[in-house]
Amino acid sequence: MSAVETVVRLAYLAAATCFVLGLHLMNAPATARRGNHLSIAGMTVAVAATLVLLADSGGTTPTGWTVLAAGAAVGTVAGLWGARSVPMTAMPQLVSLFNAVGGGAAALVAVPELLPPAEAASVRVPAALDVAIGAVTFAGSLVAAGKLAGVVPGRPVVFPGARLAGGALAVAAAVAGGVLIYGYGGGAALAVLAGTALVFGVALVLPIGGADMPVVISLLNACTGTAVAMAGLATGNSVLVVAGALVGASGAILTGLMAAAMNRSLGAILLGGYGTGDGTGGPAGPAGAAVRAVSADDVAIQLGYARRVVVVPGYGLAAAQAQYALHELASVLAARGTEVTYAIHPVAGRMPGHMNVLLAEANVPYPDMRELDAANAELPLADVALVVGANDVTNPAARRPGNAISGMPILDVDRAAAVIVLKRSMGHGYAGLDNELYTDPKTGMLFADARAGLTALTAAVKTLVG
Ligand code: TAP
Repeated sequence: MSAVETVVRLAYLAAATCFVLGLHLMNAPATARRGNHLSIAGMTVAVAATLVLLADSGGTTPTGWTVLAAGAAVGTVAGLWGARSVPMTAMPQLVSLFNAVGGGAAALVAVPELLPPAEAASVRVPAALDVAIGAVTFAGSLVAAGKLAGVVPGRPVVFPGARLAGGALAVAAAVAGGVLIYGYGGGAALAVLAGTALVFGVALVLPIGGADMPVVISLLNACTGTAVAMAGLATGNSVLVVAGALVGASGAILTGLMAAAMNRSLGAILLGGYGTGDGTGGPAGPAGAAVRAVSADDVAIQLGYARRVVVVPGYGLAAAQAQYALHELASVLAARGTEVTYAIHPVAGRMPGHMNVLLAEANVPYPDMRELDAANAELPLADVALVVGANDVTNPAARRPGNAISGMPILDVDRAAAVIVLKRSMGHGYAGLDNELYTDPKTGMLFADARAGLTALTAAVKTLVG
């Protein structure tokens, strides 16, 4: 092994260490930013080491270098622009698009390993798996991004014979993969493998709708990681294997956690048909039950004299970008001696950790944020539960069978002494269900945009209760 190769391997080891430590630091919101920076440093080292290895081996022509530089430039500009300009509400679509790009790139890496029939089976097997998984991820992630952006219908798109067609596609992909692994078929078999895997990816995500989308995004993320690890095995690149395995494993764990948070089995989600996203099905609130609308002044007095307030943020908080207004209200209440905590449901908002990220942006102290179980222990002790733009994650209908969120653990907001819901209307949440919390006699509905409503509440607390 040459001196350059030794240095590159050591650099890969350092990069892999950065990835593992970075992931560990992402366990807690307080250290997540440092974890991100460490992972970026690891990735920079890995890319630099790979370029050094490429230059040293002389394996790339001037045209190759030009293509590499152009690809890197386009990717860097698009990635930076996308990440910086995207609004928080569109972040899940962006994550899905990044997943698509990752899966597609991983699949392309394996193509040169499959075309010459001379490569060993130890190369061809992971290369074929890489193309299959990468293509499924590419197509599936594009459909998921389209659903989240509203370009593709959010409801489950099902048609007769869909599962049979999905099975047939999987068999065709497996046959084409087998032919390729044995060194036959060349470009034609590769095209069949990639084509069937692409269509399978579309068919996989189309029937999944509404409330189950977070699980799908996590699963596709795990698939991207697996495809990258396969690319590493096919090309003999250890840092790709480590990075891919970490993404694959953490994505799989997150998928399991998300499925548990929505009380769905992964199999049931993938068979599709759950979740509506556009307002069908599910029981309505008690027939004829009255809704009690309240004014900002009423709520300000109630909050001003409460000892314990639990805030339940949801998607509407993100849509209104009301996190700063919320923190200001909480600070005014805290200054009056009120204990304010935040109850965070694992699938509140539109992406994993959405509420944590939003609240952290507004400098809400991490110790004030409660996860589901801790929040549910505190809610019965709260004088007021203040629900800001959250709907499904508070819906008591989840405790009953027969609707799109049945069995999903919810925040037990209805167990607080009093409930205030701040939203614009009686409109549905993502799962498209009526929320009977709104007709509970102890609930007051403050109809307003979250940011405007919170700003009005802060002003009213200051003037009415000092
Ligand atoms: P949702 O159930 O989606 O409800 C959000 C509510 O916010 C709506 O009912 C809407 O009512 C209100 N709203 C919208 N804009 C507002 C504004 N400017 N000001 C005030 N309120 C506003 O939200 P949730 O409780 O956070 O639940 C999340 C749902 O999304 C779950 O069903 C979950 O499964 C699903 N989901 C989650 C994820 C992840 S990973 N978190 C990803 C995809 C889907 P009005 O229109 O009446 O204002």
